[in-house]
Amino acid sequence: MAMIFLGVNIDHCATLRQARYREAGATTGGVVEPDPVTFALLAERAGGDGITVHLREDRRHIQERDVWRLRECIGTRLNLEMACTPAMTEFALKLKPEFVCLVPESRQEVTTEGGLDVVGSRDRVKACVEAMTAAGIKTSLFIDADDPQIELSAQLGAPYVELHTGAYANAFHTARRAAEYQRLRLGAVRAHDLGLVVNAGHGINYVNIAEVRTLPHLHELNIGHSIVSRALFTGVDEAVREMKARMNGA
Ligand code: PXP
Repeated sequence: MAMIFLGVNIDHCATLRQARYREAGATTGGVVEPDPVTFALLAERAGGDGITVHLREDRRHIQERDVWRLRECIGTRLNLEMACTPAMTEFALKLKPEFVCLVPESRQEVTTEGGLDVVGSRDRVKACVEAMTAAGIKTSLFIDADDPQIELSAQLGAPYVELHTGAYANAFHTARRAAEYQRLRLGAVRAHDLGLVVNAGHGINYVNIAEVRTLPHLHELNIGHSIVSRALFTGVDEAVREMKARMNGA
């Protein structure tokens, strides 16, 4: 089995900071903690293969300043999750992250399961993928593991998809788990057959990873909440090492 890479999503480190320093979080200040950039550097040192952030339109956790600091400081690769809007496209073209992952933010572009509705937002997604490709930025589309979404993602020339594992994670302790797993499995096979690189993410934790890792063709998992939560007790280093070990069968 090929090694699965880990993208560490640090959004929830910023969530904790914003809970106290909503105003100061956007400014310089030594006591503004916890600092997501420090989290990112520790995560890299522990074996994280990339850093993922979602710059939301409402700026509820990660701030623009964080993203610019990450761009300067990190030594792996930056994956910017963003809405498919002209303002975010302009921002990404200036920032030049290695990867952009298009995610839904407005009601019109979200599917029932929570992935990006590529089928319903075809023209906007196409324009964004083309702009990123022309700038040398690789685009991933965060989609449900459904054939129409997967097939159109390939047609639009996105090199990557990130399969939404949220429905599977929610069903983990229910009778629906096997069906959700099967859906992800078939989606991963279909995406791979169409030449897409298969990433996955959302709701992955230290327990369900034992099964998630058995999905075929997985290239990278983007994991945030469980790692940030575990890090509160063990520190970032152990939280990241433990997840990477579990992802790869230890
Ligand atoms: N992948 C994408 C596209 C996301 O938007 C998120 C955050 O919701 C994640 C992965 C990480 O999810 P979690 O924090 O549940 O690990």
